[in-house]
Amino acid sequence: MAHGSLLSSILVWLGVLSLISYVIGILDALYVYLQPSQLHRYLHPDKNGRPAWALVTGASDGIGRAFSFELAARGFNVVLHGRNQAKLDGVRQELLARHGPSQEFRILIADAKDCSQETLAKITRQLADINLTVLVNNAGGAPESKTFGTLDEYSNRQVTETVHVNALFPTLLLGELMPMLARNAPSLALSVGSVTDHGLPLLSFYGASKAFFWVIATSAARENKMVQRDIEVLHLRIGLVTGVAAVQQPPTLFVPHASHLAKVALARVGCGRIVVTPYWGHLVQAESMAMLPEWVQAIFYVHALKDLQENGMNSGLVASKK
Ligand SMILES: NC(=O)c1ccc[n+]([C@@H]2O[C@H](COP(=O)([O-])OP(=O)(O)OC[C@H]3O[C@@H](n4cnc5c(N)ncnc54)[C@H](OP(=O)(O)O)[C@@H]3O)[C@@H](O)[C@H]2O)c1
Repeated sequence: MAHGSLLSSILVWLGVLSLISYVIGILDALYVYLQPSQLHRYLHPDKNGRPAWALVTGASDGIGRAFSFELAARGFNVVLHGRNQAKLDGVRQELLARHGPSQEFRILIADAKDCSQETLAKITRQLADINLTVLVNNAGGAPESKTFGTLDEYSNRQVTETVHVNALFPTLLLGELMPMLARNAPSLALSVGSVTDHGLPLLSFYGASKAFFWVIATSAARENKMVQRDIEVLHLRIGLVTGVAAVQQPPTLFVPHASHLAKVALARVGCGRIVVTPYWGHLVQAESMAMLPEWVQAIFYVHALKDLQENGMNSGLVASKK
């Protein structure tokens, strides 16, 4: 009898503790979403009165293009980085039509596959005359010729270039521009990551390169704290987004448009985290998957990625664990 009541008390307390930890988890997640954006902190002139600029890599299309429009709408001058002059000219003309002549937009051409010191120094030189306070490391993507495949199906060159564009280029750019961001502080370094960063089939080195930059961003944020640099580092984990070069399906609850993604990402600035899933639909997908046992997740991923490989990105569904 005494044993029975002890056991039921233990079970009740375990239940209460689980409930409390579950509620704390939900409140913690909600806190990130309910915080007002602190982006305005970075819209400040420097001591010479020069206005604030943002650099967006991969600004010619998709999410980078959307970030450029959102940042311009919030008063930033924007450096549009990419590799295709004609596409960037088009984006610049659209921005000038909306925000010129009170705001400026300039183009910076550099292939992100080229991670040489020479290229990075050239980028820095082109930014030397402006008050850069925001960096959005966005350029990236899976191999252009084949989004989904097993590791052995890719050439040495495809793997190397994908890792360069998604991992090395943003890493070296962040390191190269950190002194400039420190001089112009308070400043912000955003990076566009992916929920595919934890070992999904058919996306091995693309996902791994996003995981690489997650770690870089986390270390950089902690280093900034350590050396008391007022540079916010915020890494964004995102799921499937439409309105980008490879995905043009109508937006759904779980597949937002790039322009909405950029809006909610900027809304998360100043949330106090280093890594965040800015869009709630992607968070729900990620958290639901995280609750499942690993073997169930594996079944789901094999099925979902096979479907994407066979039917293309516009067929729809990618979910993920935390
Ligand atoms: N869309 C999604 O579902 C999704 C999900 C998770 C993460 N992401 C990430 O979001 C970021 C933006 O992707 P997106 O979906 O917006 O794709 P996108 O529409 O293809 O845009 C990619 C941008 O990066 C540029 N870029 C690619 N390779 C480059 C290179 N070697 N040098 C210079 N610029 C280069 C592209 O330039 P061009 O116009 O010349 O091609 C374009 O401006 C990427 O980092 C991607 O990994 C996307």
